[in-house]
Amino acid sequence: MSAPLPPVLVVDDEKNMRLSLQTLLGDEGYLARAVESAEAALKLLAAEEFFMVITDARLGGMSGYDFLAKVRAQWPDRPVLMITAYATPKLAVEVIKAGAVDYLAKPFAPEELLHAVARCAERYRLLVENAALRARAGEAYPLEAIVGESPKMRELRQLIQTVAPTDARVLILGESGTGKELVAGSLHSLSQRRQASYVRINCAAIPETLLESELFGHERGAFTGAVKQKAGRVEEADGGTIFLDEIADMSRPLQAKLLRFLEDGTFTRVGGTQELRVNVRLIAATNRDIVKAIATDEFREDLFHRLNVVQFRLPPLRERADDVLVLAEHFMKLFNASMNKKITGLTRAARQKLQSHHWPGNVRELRNVIERALILETQREIQPASLPDFSVEARLRKGDLPRATGEESLDEIVANFERDLITQTLEENHFSLTRSAERLKLSRHALRYRMQRLNVAAVTDGDDETTSVITRDPREP
Ligand SMILES: Nc1ncnc2c1ncn2[C@@H]1O[C@H](COP(=O)(O)OP(=O)(O)OP(=O)(O)O)[C@@H](O)[C@H]1O
Ligand SMILES: [Mg+2]
Repeated sequence: MSAPLPPVLVVDDEKNMRLSLQTLLGDEGYLARAVESAEAALKLLAAEEFFMVITDARLGGMSGYDFLAKVRAQWPDRPVLMITAYATPKLAVEVIKAGAVDYLAKPFAPEELLHAVARCAERYRLLVENAALRARAGEAYPLEAIVGESPKMRELRQLIQTVAPTDARVLILGESGTGKELVAGSLHSLSQRRQASYVRINCAAIPETLLESELFGHERGAFTGAVKQKAGRVEEADGGTIFLDEIADMSRPLQAKLLRFLEDGTFTRVGGTQELRVNVRLIAATNRDIVKAIATDEFREDLFHRLNVVQFRLPPLRERADDVLVLAEHFMKLFNASMNKKITGLTRAARQKLQSHHWPGNVRELRNVIERALILETQREIQPASLPDFSVEARLRKGDLPRATGEESLDEIVANFERDLITQTLEENHFSLTRSAERLKLSRHALRYRMQRLNVAAVTDGDDETTSVITRDPREP
């Protein structure tokens, strides 16, 4: 639900103009107040909320230009649209330089004016939404939320502190569950842009056809379903940070558009012709092997270089064994508090079990393991029995061949392997059937069929693109 839009303030010394503007705006559903002088307008602006100001350049008393300068100084967020009697390119530049969002030369078509007003209305809504979000989020990603005492994690926090205040682009690489989102968030929270918005887009979760319009917006009628003009998320991030998660999943054509955007900060909305410009800092992340994606032509090398100004590589959990217990303690505190439990620690055997595990799902997996253990545990300390049987997961490790133990037939072993592989692929691709099928070089139909046969139940959501998986593994009791 969006908040109601406050009125437009119209300033014109000609009565007929005031009336016709009020009628035009009123017919489109806008509230409009009209005054005849800049002086009166300044008084009203101080007393009431307006989402924009439309002013004539020539007014009796204070001129439209002086008025514009005063509004800019006192209410820098309030867009001003200037109407001039005649337009010259020089004048246009001057008006825009003085801080007007737009200008119109008389006579103008009503649609031109309404178009400019609609843009300002959209901008106002975004400002209000962002302010509300920021108030709720506070310091959303403090550095202390990145837990770990291993030298690599200490270095990482140090690097975040060094890089955050700069405007440098950052590429964050690391396996799934290593904390890429936390790093991206704290880069914003510790930056000079922290008061402005932090916009996060998961490129893998948004259908390819919609990602461009999500990112750069669209004009009304740009495609079926585009019933209204929509600002892009890059506009919402103006002055702030945009985090493009799973960047390696972006399509090649969109990569080209992103490249252009990174080169000069300009973009056009889908179906639009006007070149727009914003000032955003870009942070990108992927858990895929980006070098391989470049080698196979899935990812543009020039885009990689543009993004890769500062690179963060998050080490997998298995390479920082010391952190396993530190993180386990951290999550125990967290879940003790949220579940109202009083588990005091881990038994020595439980600690050993955690430390000998390979953690293919990294910190996310550890977090889930501790959450589960706190639910199951009935004693004061976590017992090994409350931890999962890691041997099942161990079989998923790269290069690990399933073994014939005499308990299962070849067909069963192959089916188990196939089930694990499909489940893992679905997870890695955020449960997108299309992408998973691509990775497995199967048709979607064939993938579905196999999932049914192997008892991988897919909960498909509305657009039939993403699923989540409930596996029923016959090996488990
Ligand atoms: N160093 C850490 N300290 C505390 N919590 C962490 C740390 N690293 C990761 N986590 C937690 O682990 C979970 C996964 O982290 P995150 O979502 O940042 O992973 P990711 O690298 O973005 O993974 P993916 O590639 O799958 O998106 C989150 O709940 C996060 O809070
Ligand atoms: Mg992530």
